[in-house]
Amino acid sequence: MDKEAQAGVDVWKYALGFDVMRVVKCAIELGIPEALESHGKPISLSDLSSSVGCPEISLHRIMRFLTHHGIFEKQITDAPHYPGSVFYAQTPLSRLLSRDNMGTFVLVQAGPEFGLTAKDLKAGKGSGVEASPDESIIWNMVIDKEYDKLFQEFLGCHAKVATSAVIDNCSKIFQGIGTVVDVGGHEGTAIGMLVKAFPWIRGINFDLPDVVSGAPLLQGVDHVGGNMFESVPKADAVMLMWILHDWSDKLCVDILKKCKEAIATETGKVIIVEAVIDEEGEDEYTGARLALDMTIMSSTVNGKERTAKEWAQLLDAAGFSRYTFHYMKAIDSVIEAYP
Ligand SMILES: C[S@@+](CC[C@H](N)C(=O)[O-])C[C@H]1O[C@@H](n2cnc3c(N)ncnc32)[C@H](O)[C@@H]1O
Repeated sequence: MDKEAQAGVDVWKYALGFDVMRVVKCAIELGIPEALESHGKPISLSDLSSSVGCPEISLHRIMRFLTHHGIFEKQITDAPHYPGSVFYAQTPLSRLLSRDNMGTFVLVQAGPEFGLTAKDLKAGKGSGVEASPDESIIWNMVIDKEYDKLFQEFLGCHAKVATSAVIDNCSKIFQGIGTVVDVGGHEGTAIGMLVKAFPWIRGINFDLPDVVSGAPLLQGVDHVGGNMFESVPKADAVMLMWILHDWSDKLCVDILKKCKEAIATETGKVIIVEAVIDEEGEDEYTGARLALDMTIMSSTVNGKERTAKEWAQLLDAAGFSRYTFHYMKAIDSVIEAYP
């Protein structure tokens, strides 16, 4: 098909293309990935319908859409009792979409709070360099109780996914470190996993007082409440995972300076776990990183994903003398920065 003819087909994706993510969200809310998993073999429409409590007619339409998009698999059986019957099966992708894996990412992303409008952009949203007075708004505001609960669940899932990648790919950077403080560590999931994987580490989970007051007890981890713009607990290494992308350059420099004050000049380091945008090359995670940048643009006041050059500018401005980038086969990279 020539380019013009192809455009005539593609334009329908934008004109009528119902967002796949919104239907995947429905499937997660219904618990379809879990229902298929617990059934242990391909499932008929009527069994799936009783399992998730959704009428067959609408479920059939949802599954027709999702199998077309490769989220689930449709199998037509030639078994003698049900020739031609349709059964549904998991795919490697749908397995990752359970609530205890990446399902909550989808639920949070598809939430009504994430929008991006021309009005927002014209008003300067996403320019992300200078600090604005209301930047901490998302961390002090409960949009609605149910969404807040989902968001907390999502942060726990994110910490599990991101920390597993760090443990699997970058174990060397934790060798010989006595104490690590995870700044903005939420309820301590990440530092708890690091202490388990590298038992010589004593962990400090540092977050806003309201957040740590509800955090569970974790072996080898002390919870400390405070404000990273004022001071950060002293440690051999400071970790900042998915923190700096929420803030303007100006406030990132303030945070990084506080982290630098918390570590020894000769031996300390700051470990940053964040996406690094590559504008020249692409890998299999490029699309996800660029999508994350759009999410951050719409959900924060002044946050952004940064290129390696932009990371270097921040670290230089905060007074770090050198830094090393570790690229992983993941959405995030790890940057080690030394005073
Ligand atoms: C995007 S979450 C990242 C959580 C976790 N590091 C992760 O990667 O899943 C940002 C965290 O920063 C915390 N935070 C926001 N403002 C803070 C402040 N001023 N001082 C300390 N923590 C703060 C929030 O409460 C939240 O837990």
